[in-house]
Amino acid sequence: MSNKPIELELDNRLGRHYSPGDQHYRAYVGPPADYDLVATWVFTLLVSLGMRETHKVLDIGCGSLRVGRLLIPYLLPTNYYGTEPEDWLIQEGIQYEVGQDQIDLKKPSFLKDANFSLSSFNSQFDYIVAQSIFSHASSNQIAQCLIEAARVMHTNSIFVCTFLKGDKSYEGDEWVYPGIVPYRPEDITNLAEKAGLLCRQINWPHQNQNWLLIIRPENEKGIERLERGLSIPPLFNNRFVPLVDKYEAEVESLQQKLRETSRQNQLLQADHEKLEKWALEMQEQLTAISGNRLRLLKKLLKR
Ligand SMILES: C[S@@+](CC[C@H](N)C(=O)[O-])C[C@H]1O[C@@H](n2cnc3c(N)ncnc32)[C@H](O)[C@@H]1O
Repeated sequence: MSNKPIELELDNRLGRHYSPGDQHYRAYVGPPADYDLVATWVFTLLVSLGMRETHKVLDIGCGSLRVGRLLIPYLLPTNYYGTEPEDWLIQEGIQYEVGQDQIDLKKPSFLKDANFSLSSFNSQFDYIVAQSIFSHASSNQIAQCLIEAARVMHTNSIFVCTFLKGDKSYEGDEWVYPGIVPYRPEDITNLAEKAGLLCRQINWPHQNQNWLLIIRPENEKGIERLERGLSIPPLFNNRFVPLVDKYEAEVESLQQKLRETSRQNQLLQADHEKLEKWALEMQEQLTAISGNRLRLLKKLLKR
């Protein structure tokens, strides 16, 4: 018996013959052949940056749950949040990728939204991801997204997103789809700064875009640690990073003690110098007194 009908059915199901942007739940969000790859890049990036099942994760423009199909089973119930204007993508993502049972079990939250109304969830997020969103958005939309992200980020929140790097930034006012639009990195950094956030480029796989890491300025010291985490296989990272944190805290406390000791040393040194000066003055006075006594004795002897 030939396997042809089954293969054909699978081809149709996976949208293998569709082009990016076509009305198929996989093709609509990008090249169907890379559907699984993109999901793993995002998932491993988040894990490398310390994501655990207890964290709350917001997937901006979650599409057909390409990343959601890994995040929803991984996270504890109610911890996955997604926004998306195209409701049919979420519905087909649930039907073909995630399954209603998983939805019932993990109770993710979805918001039909095209205005980056991230604060509508009334929640703060530990991780936020916007995969292939800024590469279609106008600068006003990116600005709005960053302003809203700042509202739902706590001190240690991590926001990762992709953008298409170019020498000139897109100047239009419209969302562009399925085409993609470029931005100069410094223009996105400026928009992030205006929203009160810090933005850095990071090295992580993507077909044609670059990754950005966005955090609160209070967490600036944490950037080095996060970047170090990206060079370690994710499975080790969640064990390694807390250890490094612990050793760094110990080094910091030893350095603090060293600073205190050298300050005390300086004070002692100053006291020591004062005592030496005083002893010298005493010596001089003593010499003067014995000189006077000698002169007095000579006078008496002359008489
Ligand atoms: C290239 S796809 C990426 C989807 C998903 N992030 C992923 O990586 O699979 C872009 C997605 O953004 C959605 N979108 C369109 N306008 C949007 C908006 N204003 N805010 C958020 N998402 C939007 C599209 O419907 C589409 O699902």
